[in-house]
Amino acid sequence: MNAIEIKNLVKTYKNGTQAVKGVDLVVPQGDFFALLGANGAGKTTIISILIGLVNKTSGTVKVFDHNIDQEFDLAKRCIGVVPQEFNFNMFEKVHDIVSIQAGFFGIERKIAVKNTEEVLKKVGLWDKKNAMARTLSGGMKRRLMIARALVHKPRVLVLDEPTAGVDVQLRVGMWDYLRELNAQGVTILLTTHYLEEVQQMCRNAAIIKEGQIVRLDSVKNLNKFITQETYVIAVKTMESLAGLEAYKPVVVDDHTLEVELNRDEQLNGLLIKLINNKFDITDVHPKGQRLEKLFLSLL
Ligand SMILES: Nc1ncnc2c1ncn2[C@@H]1O[C@H](COP(=O)(O)OP(=O)(O)O)[C@@H](O)[C@H]1O
Ligand SMILES: [Mg+2]
Repeated sequence: MNAIEIKNLVKTYKNGTQAVKGVDLVVPQGDFFALLGANGAGKTTIISILIGLVNKTSGTVKVFDHNIDQEFDLAKRCIGVVPQEFNFNMFEKVHDIVSIQAGFFGIERKIAVKNTEEVLKKVGLWDKKNAMARTLSGGMKRRLMIARALVHKPRVLVLDEPTAGVDVQLRVGMWDYLRELNAQGVTILLTTHYLEEVQQMCRNAAIIKEGQIVRLDSVKNLNKFITQETYVIAVKTMESLAGLEAYKPVVVDDHTLEVELNRDEQLNGLLIKLINNKFDITDVHPKGQRLEKLFLSLL
C-alpha cells in the first residue's frame, strides 16, 4: 500500500506560473521521504494540492488509495500537515488549539479530549496545556504545530520545511522526534532545502527542480554524490578550537566559524565538541555549495 501516489501532476497558477510540470511521486506506507528542492521549486504547491488548499490543473493524487477528486474527505483524514509558518491563534490555549482541530475532522468531543492529551504528552507539552500559545518558546510552538497535525491520528504526516529558521538544539530534537514517530508507523513526507536534514533523517528522497522531479532515489544512493559540506556556525564569542582540527575550522570573524564535515560524520558530534569548548552557538547552516553542486550535476 502506498501512502501517497501522485501521477502526472500539473499546476499552472492563474498568473501563468507553471509551478508543477508533470510530477510522478510515490511514497510507500511507512517511508520517511523527503522532497528536496530550492526555493520556488514547487514543494509547497504539491503539498497544498494534497490537502486541498490549492486546486491542481491536472493529474491524479491518491492518499492511501483515496483519490482526492472522488474521496477528498477520506484522503484528507489520512493526512496531518505541519505548515511552515505558525498559523494558530497566539491568544488561544494550547489544549484548545489541539482539541478544536480534532473537531474539524468530525471527531467526537470525548475522543478529541483523549487524543489531545495523548499527543500533547507525546510532544512534551502536556504541562503547558493551559498556557496561551504566545507564551511558548519557538521550539514549543513547533511541537504544538505537530501535536495539532497528529490529533486526528493521521497515517501520514506532512511537514513543509519543518526546521527552516529553527535553532540547532531544536532541530536535532525534532529529528529525534520525527524518527520516533516514523518508527511507530507514521509515514513521513517532508520538504526541505537542507540536504543535511535529508541525509540525517530520510530513507528516500525526490529532488525537485523548477516543478519537475529530476531524481528519485534512496538517500544512501544520493549520498554517493556527495563528499563534504561546509557549515557556517554563528557563535556569541569565539572560544578555543582545541580538538576541532579535523573539522578544518576557519574563523571568518568574531562571531562566525566555518567547518567541514565529511559525508559520514554527524553534525551532532561537532556540535557537542563545540559546546564542550564553551561555544554559545546561535545558528548553524550548511554553506550550500554542496547542494548547489548536486543540483547542477542533475541538470
Ligand atoms: N498563489 C500563487 N500564485 C502564483 N504563483 C505562485 C503561487 N504560489 C506559488 N507560486 C509560484 O510557484 C512556484 C513554486 O512555488 P512553491 O510551490 O511555493 O515552491 P517551494 O515551496 O518549493 O519554495 C514559484 O515560482 C512561486 O513563485
Ligand atoms: Mg515552500
